Amino acid sequence: MERPYILHMFTPGRQMSPFDVNMAADAGYQVLAPYTDVTLDAVRGLTQDAIFSRSPKGLARTAIFIGGRDAVLAADMLERAQQAMVPPFTVSLMADPSGSYTTAAAMVAAVEAELVAMGAGGLTGQRVVVLGGTGPVGRIAGVMAAMAGANVALSSRNGIDVAEEAAQQTGQRFGVTLHGISGGDRDAVRRSIADADVILATAAAGVQVVSAEDLTAATRLKVAADVNAVPPEGIAGVGVMDKGTPVPGTQARGLGALAIGNVKYQTQQRLLRSMNESAEPVVLGFAEAFEAARALLRQA
Ligand SMILES: NC(=O)c1ccc[n+]([C@@H]2O[C@H](COP(=O)([O-])OP(=O)(O)OC[C@H]3O[C@@H](n4cnc5c(N)ncnc54)[C@H](OP(=O)(O)O)[C@@H]3O)[C@@H](O)[C@H]2O)c1
Repeated sequence: MERPYILHMFTPGRQMSPFDVNMAADAGYQVLAPYTDVTLDAVRGLTQDAIFSRSPKGLARTAIFIGGRDAVLAADMLERAQQAMVPPFTVSLMADPSGSYTTAAAMVAAVEAELVAMGAGGLTGQRVVVLGGTGPVGRIAGVMAAMAGANVALSSRNGIDVAEEAAQQTGQRFGVTLHGISGGDRDAVRRSIADADVILATAAAGVQVVSAEDLTAATRLKVAADVNAVPPEGIAGVGVMDKGTPVPGTQARGLGALAIGNVKYQTQQRLLRSMNESAEPVVLGFAEAFEAARALLRQA
């Protein structure tokens, strides 16, 4: 009998995300085993429990997924799981906490492709402001944009100290320079976007972080990208289906939540499938998600 494809799904939270369960089932996993309230220290034991119970042939059909809400903790858990392998007892690993790695990957890769398409030469040297930048999607989008050469500021509605702390903590963990910027009130938001080339809106669902009036301050804006699919739109005038569509009242182009979501969906599916399809076990963190999203867009 052929062994079933098993995905062990670890989360530090109280429940595994139904979104990720559906995605994994659609990627072909036949057994989905969620483990909740998983601490960092528990990852080694759980991983070794999974790897020693199957032969290397069975392990090729076994993988581990790490979820949760914390983008930094998930990266630490991914490293712990990797360190727990005992060759030849190894399995593929993937982290995507709250969808943040694949969402940020789709967003930043789409922005990069748009900048290239408009002749602005990609993200190198661009000034990127991430509104809602302290959440998991915003932090990782900031890291990816910085990795691609942008000058990145994470914004918080709670002011400069909170923004700086998120920027320093996230930047240090992932080896990039991130700045903090205040989004504490309307004036602060307008000042923060006044010299932005790119705005990434990654605030909580259903929150508009940039109004039409705010946008008039963004005089050098090239691309405005929004991942909030719940009305109202995160950036006024950027529709959910927008894909390089002019943003009213500006010279910028817009990328909307469902257009980015489509790239995110395909990226996540591709990564989940690659754990079963690759000849050797793979480790998929946000850098791999970013590369997968870039590759998808190059093929589009
Ligand atoms: N399109 C897709 O495929 C896709 C996939 C996954 C997620 N998403 C969307 O991506 C966005 C970010 O997700 P996430 O999980 O990172 O979000 P989150 O953690 O819920 O929120 C991100 C940040 O938004 C700020 N915020 C919270 N409430 C706010 C309010 N009322 N007004 C202004 N700012 C507020 C907070 O930062 P401060 O308090 O520091 O300002 C928070 O850290 C969400 O809109 C989510 O729905 C889209």
